[in-house]
Amino acid sequence: MSGKHLIIIGFMGTGKSSVGQVLAKRIGRTWIDTDLEVERKVNKSISELFEENGEACFRLWEKHVLIEALAERPAVITTGGGIVLDQDNVKQITDSGWVVALDASVDELIKRLKANTSRPLLSGDVRERVTQLKKKRQGAYDFADFHLDTSGLTPDEVSDRILRNW
Ligand code: S3P
Repeated sequence: MSGKHLIIIGFMGTGKSSVGQVLAKRIGRTWIDTDLEVERKVNKSISELFEENGEACFRLWEKHVLIEALAERPAVITTGGGIVLDQDNVKQITDSGWVVALDASVDELIKRLKANTSRPLLSGDVRERVTQLKKKRQGAYDFADFHLDTSGLTPDEVSDRILRNW
């Protein structure tokens, strides 16, 4: 148990938001999801924001809501998969949280991501995009305090394992 934020990072489809919700309920903390916060602030879906204002604009909002979330009392914070592309974000996350990186096999990611087509960076051939992006982001989540492969696990099972190591 720690007085810091519990921050969940990881590639798209690794289960960050589902696990974050379960964890927050179990430890009695607020759940803050940076993607949902961006959508609430701009009153648009992430897809609309990418389409109408571009990825760079989304990244600025993402940074802004991260700083706001970190200023709150200790919460469970779930993040978009690309938040770690910005080294300032990585520093902020490292300084203020106990960081969990979720991962999953490419087959599992594709299964989960195909069921939800709302991610702008995955338009086209999902398998190809996931493989490309995963390769490009190799190492980007390595700074986490705890790593967990969620393939075949339910959000409850993932939460159990996280809490045992917290
Ligand atoms: C992104 C991941 C998405 C969302 C946006 C960009 C990324 O969040 O922030 O579509 O660059 O990996 P999830 O990881 O919750 O899907």
